[in-house]
Amino acid sequence: MAEKKAKVAVLVSGGGTNLQALIDAQHSGIIKSGEITLVISNKEGAYALERAKNAGIETAVVLKRNYSDALGFEEAIKAILTEKEIDVIVLAGFMSILSESFTGAYPERIINVHPSLIPSFCGAGFYGLRVHEAALSYGVKVTGATVHFVNEIPDGGRIIMQKAVEIEEGDTPEILQKRVMEQAEWKILPLSLEKVCSELK
Ligand code: GAR
Repeated sequence: MAEKKAKVAVLVSGGGTNLQALIDAQHSGIIKSGEITLVISNKEGAYALERAKNAGIETAVVLKRNYSDALGFEEAIKAILTEKEIDVIVLAGFMSILSESFTGAYPERIINVHPSLIPSFCGAGFYGLRVHEAALSYGVKVTGATVHFVNEIPDGGRIIMQKAVEIEEGDTPEILQKRVMEQAEWKILPLSLEKVCSELK
């Protein structure tokens, strides 16, 4: 893959600040071995879709309610990824756990950003603000973010990068979420994507 850029799809559900970090990293040259060619959302009206459109990236919306089961929903996503010849998939705030039939089709080709230092505060039920609420109520003094490959175990795939973030006096889940994004997620997600794309076989 050295001379040809990997085609990257980003799966989103919400605000898309991590998608924005990837777009910015592509523009600044941090990401040079891959190109984001597709953004798929499982939520209509997700602001991430606007970010993609503003950057001239093709978008698609796939809604679970239009399929009789999770398998149908995942097969619909797979069909788009296949049609667009996607090499690498990034889950950037994608709030739907993918089954083994999906993850097994892309071994070490799907990466996810999670807002804690795995194996703390991760797995089913730990997403978004809930992760930071759990870290604060446990009383840890350091948290952070992890980028990892996605396999059949929620947040259980091989770790690619981690970055620690200090918890400060008076933190609320919202304040902590923002600090973890700024200091960790928006940095290690682009770096991890570049690493994975540059090492593709
Ligand atoms: C990010 O903090 C991301 O790490 C988290 O959701 C947020 C999405 O924000 N993901 C998870 O909790 C996955 N388990 P964004 O839409 O602004 O990128």
